[in-house]
Amino acid sequence: MPFRRHSTAPRRHAAGLLVAAAALLLGAGSASAADAADATVSGGGVTLKSAVVTLPSSDRGFPPGPHADAIESNCLACHSAGMVLNQPALSRAEWRNEVTKMVKVFKAPVSDQDADEIVAYLAAMKVDR
Ligand code: HEC
Repeated sequence: MPFRRHSTAPRRHAAGLLVAAAALLLGAGSASAADAADATVSGGGVTLKSAVVTLPSSDRGFPPGPHADAIESNCLACHSAGMVLNQPALSRAEWRNEVTKMVKVFKAPVSDQDADEIVAYLAAMKVDR
């Protein structure tokens, strides 16, 4: 019966997702307890094992260079430097648009002079990857 096969397959898939979601929640909940690195919970024939994920820290600042002070003091209020540094190599005009977007769309309080200096900094930035 083709109808039966079609209706059971997605349900099994959904159950698998539920277990995965539960495991994720458990992992997130116990990550704050320092000694819960390998905690397990069992019930209903299912054993969940917590996982600890260590993310790289994101306190990277902007590399030194002309006008680094302008970008340091204007562009770290809402997001990390990584948000800016992880972009592909953009042209000067594209960086100008990016800075304008931060000011116009997200209301970043950047003076016109600082905006010019920030664009100059970004356009001169070496993307080493
Ligand atoms: C008022 C808050 C705020 C300030 C200050 C700010 N940004 Fe942003 N920026 C954002 C938000 C919000 C996003 C995420 C936008 C998105 O998810 O699309 C973002 C994302 C970005 C991105 C990623 C690409 C994009 O367009 O989403 C770049 C690059 C960037 N900002 C550069 C800058 C630079 C350079 C400055 C300093 C002139 C700056 N930001 C200052 C709010 C800000």
